[in-house]
Amino acid sequence: MSMGFLWLWVVICMNNIILLSFVSVSTAELQRFEHPVKADGSLSFLAIGDWGRRGAYNQSQVAYQMGEIGTKLNIDFVISTGDNFYNRGLTSVKDPAFVESFTEIYTAKSLQKQWYIVLGNHDYRGNALAQLSPVLRKIDSRWLCLRSFLVNTKIADFFFIDTNPFVDKYFLRKKHYQHDWRGVLPRKQYLSNLLKDLDFALRNSSANWKVVVGHHTIRSIGHHGDTKEVVDQILPILEANNVDAYINGHDHCLEHISSTNSQIQFLTSGGGSKAWKGDIKMKGDGSKFYYDGQGFLSAQFTETDAEFAFYDVSGTLLHRLNLSKLPYDSM
Ligand SMILES: *[C@@H]1O[C@H](CO)[C@@H](O)[C@H](O)[C@H]1NC(C)=O
Ligand SMILES: *[C@@H]1O[C@H](CO)[C@@H](O)[C@H](O)[C@H]1NC(C)=O
Ligand SMILES: *[C@@H]1O[C@H](CO)[C@@H](O)[C@H](O)[C@H]1NC(C)=O
Repeated sequence: MSMGFLWLWVVICMNNIILLSFVSVSTAELQRFEHPVKADGSLSFLAIGDWGRRGAYNQSQVAYQMGEIGTKLNIDFVISTGDNFYNRGLTSVKDPAFVESFTEIYTAKSLQKQWYIVLGNHDYRGNALAQLSPVLRKIDSRWLCLRSFLVNTKIADFFFIDTNPFVDKYFLRKKHYQHDWRGVLPRKQYLSNLLKDLDFALRNSSANWKVVVGHHTIRSIGHHGDTKEVVDQILPILEANNVDAYINGHDHCLEHISSTNSQIQFLTSGGGSKAWKGDIKMKGDGSKFYYDGQGFLSAQFTETDAEFAFYDVSGTLLHRLNLSKLPYDSM
């Protein structure tokens, strides 16, 4: 994380006693990337999650259909919501799984675009630093995986956040989970910096559309359900900053939840390979769509309209939602 610290001398005068103290002020800067929109001002992308299994469990079939829809929509980039390599991430930058589960699977011409990627909990079970390493970009230049970062476009800003360190059980049951927390500890400071950075970045955004991407669910009626820590700590920041959509993986399904007490559309795209978990909590609030099998999400944005669509392993359109709003300048 590109956390910088400014050490400021603060001089406080109290009753002629001069106190000098160090105050650390976070410069609150997440790494930022610019992505151009199309000549007509629009933008389109795909989102996939929970995928790397060397083509197994329909990963290759999903990849093929992504290529087809990718061509149709002339996509600008692909988002991965994490759990990029099963079952334990990558062992190192030399792990052949990188090529066998990524490069040799997503081969369609339309998918030869920038991929913006976050880490999932299974990625932290291996060598998490390997996936963050620029060495992988030399093997496959599409790969861009960071813990938390921003992608700015003319019409939409994207906020990628590392949700993994929020989840208490990964720390309470260390032996069971064995996550690679290098670069994350001390946890408390990491989380508080990240929340500050996210809040700052959202407040500083002047794009008409704001999309947040993280691995863990906020709202889900699937296997894992809601992620309490993310609901408690991240969701209030998203709500306060008029985020339009939160895209996640973690539950191996496709789903759309539009909760009655939030303006945010909750979109799960975790159908990149192994799915059909079969346990669905049907009593979820605002559930619009749930598909237990494999597939992916597409999105098309203009300044005033956003269209999201879910597809299955045969490329069949399963569900669509449209959002529209006035141009930012007129608000
Ligand atoms: C692959 O997809 C088909 C069609 O949805 C499904 O019937 C089949 O069970 C899937 N295979 C696996 C291993 O999930
Ligand atoms: C705030 O947003 C502007 C415009 O997108 C950007 O140039 C600037 O770097 C941002 N500031 C910080 C501190 O992130
Ligand atoms: C969304 O908009 C598309 C056109 O862009 C339209 O074909 C489709 O029916 C709309 N879907 C919904 C659910 O309104």
